[in-house]
Amino acid sequence: MCGIIGLVGSFNHYDVLLKGLKRLEYRGYDSSGIGYLNKDGIVINKYPESVDTLFKEVKKFTAYCSIGHTRWATHGKVSYKNTHPFISKNGLFCLVHNGTINNFLTLKEELISNGYIMNGDTDSEVLVNYLEYLFLNNHNILLSLKLLDSKLDGSYSLVIISKNEEALYFLKNQTSLLLIEKEEGYVLTSDVYSLDDKEINYYEFEDHQYGKIDNNVEIYKNDIKISHNFKRLIKDDVNINSCSCYLEKELFECPALIEKEIQYYSKSESIPQNVINELNSKRKIYVIGCGTSFHAGLIFKEIVDKEVEVILASEFIYQNKSLNENDGYIFISQSGETLDVIRSIEKVKNAFFISITNNKDSTISRKSKYHFDIMVQKEISVASTKAYFGEVVFLYILAKRMNDENYKEIFDLPFRMNQIKSNIKEIETLAYQVKEYKNLLFLGKGIDYLSCLECSLKLKEITYIHSEAIYLGELKHGPLALINKDFPSIILITNDELKEIGEISINEIKSRDGKVFIKQFDSSYKLSFLLQVYYYDFLAFLVAKNLGVNIDKPRNLAKSVTVE
Ligand code: F6R
Repeated sequence: MCGIIGLVGSFNHYDVLLKGLKRLEYRGYDSSGIGYLNKDGIVINKYPESVDTLFKEVKKFTAYCSIGHTRWATHGKVSYKNTHPFISKNGLFCLVHNGTINNFLTLKEELISNGYIMNGDTDSEVLVNYLEYLFLNNHNILLSLKLLDSKLDGSYSLVIISKNEEALYFLKNQTSLLLIEKEEGYVLTSDVYSLDDKEINYYEFEDHQYGKIDNNVEIYKNDIKISHNFKRLIKDDVNINSCSCYLEKELFECPALIEKEIQYYSKSESIPQNVINELNSKRKIYVIGCGTSFHAGLIFKEIVDKEVEVILASEFIYQNKSLNENDGYIFISQSGETLDVIRSIEKVKNAFFISITNNKDSTISRKSKYHFDIMVQKEISVASTKAYFGEVVFLYILAKRMNDENYKEIFDLPFRMNQIKSNIKEIETLAYQVKEYKNLLFLGKGIDYLSCLECSLKLKEITYIHSEAIYLGELKHGPLALINKDFPSIILITNDELKEIGEISINEIKSRDGKVFIKQFDSSYKLSFLLQVYYYDFLAFLVAKNLGVNIDKPRNLAKSVTVE
């Protein structure tokens, strides 16, 4: 899973390529590399490190065409031999790949039996060699791309340099690839944000399209030439000014952004009545997302008076149950680029569905007739915080509209979040204690348990402290065995009626020398379950800061998961 970019034309290739890769790092930052063609042939620079290393190590260059890659490792360790771009055995092609190939071992065996030697573990290295292998039999690159496409099982966006041509070749299936038209030439890339231009003319390739881009654009599918029309896109202002830590910035700006979102979605026309009616008319609604977005979906189920099943996109894709035509779907994805969610949409594309993202220029929003933007501005930190609140706010209003209930309590949310923000000293004291532990439980009941899921994910993701969310009532059915003086619990209770039962669990923990942390929230406020998440997001941030880890880029992760 990765970000890719390719340029052909009179660009300042060094500048546009490296800055483009930096902007694509949300898709992975395990390693990075570039390849370009100039009068001396194909040159490659690559490092098993992030794009910052490219800025330090790569000397300025000029080129006819160039390609770049920033990697999130799927096949093989983070190492030089597994870093893109890859060059084919006879040096005819140089390639970058985003996606995963399921049958690459079969192709690899075929190549090995034909005298190819591959040094690394990736599927992508097999692709570049297989392309060359096909080409050496037919001497036609476009034909070879078509044949390659027919051989592959998986997802792939490929951008390719051919040794003898001032052009880029490409092939696309199941993962996004865009063509952008610029004055200097053309850009092939995973997403529109790899360029910092405010206005962009782009064409989105369809699955199984392949072709050649130089001064001209040649796009084919099954030998048939495809005409293309560029769409004009005016991007939202993306405020990614440098700051020491985006997570901190994103937590702090959250209340103000949520306030705007609440103002917008409380106007009845912003969620059209026909959407409310359609959803209400469904037998059942499936809510589909991953990670934090999945957690936001669980809140919707809790609020809405309707049969809802919240399901992880990675599970939904492989469910064998037949689809009921009376069901509706809600897809949630902050980035709008998560492949599991995209594949889930493809599974139900003829049914009624809406999507909720924080990116109106994303693959998911483009695929959706009804798309709702959570309006919290681009999230840079890998851990999703403000987007969670943006998603829950939208889903809360949607659920209340579907229930035909008022939701006036939500207008108070930004003010109450601001109160937490201004009381950060208290959370700092807690962080100082929590940083000493290696394990921790978040315990809650009902909707508070759903908050526990999100708090626990955030803590483990950015601090590497192992944490689990457990239903309070389940403690004595197993997890209590973990409790001792080194294994504390954070209890989330916002419902007064549950305080007594909470006390019992607290005593059970304390009797086993377990430390208990508990913060009281106003139980008369309906959205206190959400305030808890804001509070403990700050805790995760402050613990991570104390531990001195890379807060915005936790190890092994990527902002957007564009592979299965
Ligand atoms: C956690 C986190 C991830 C994402 C998940 C889905 O902090 O960021 O769990 O929520 O990868 O991403 P989107 O919402 O972009 O589909």
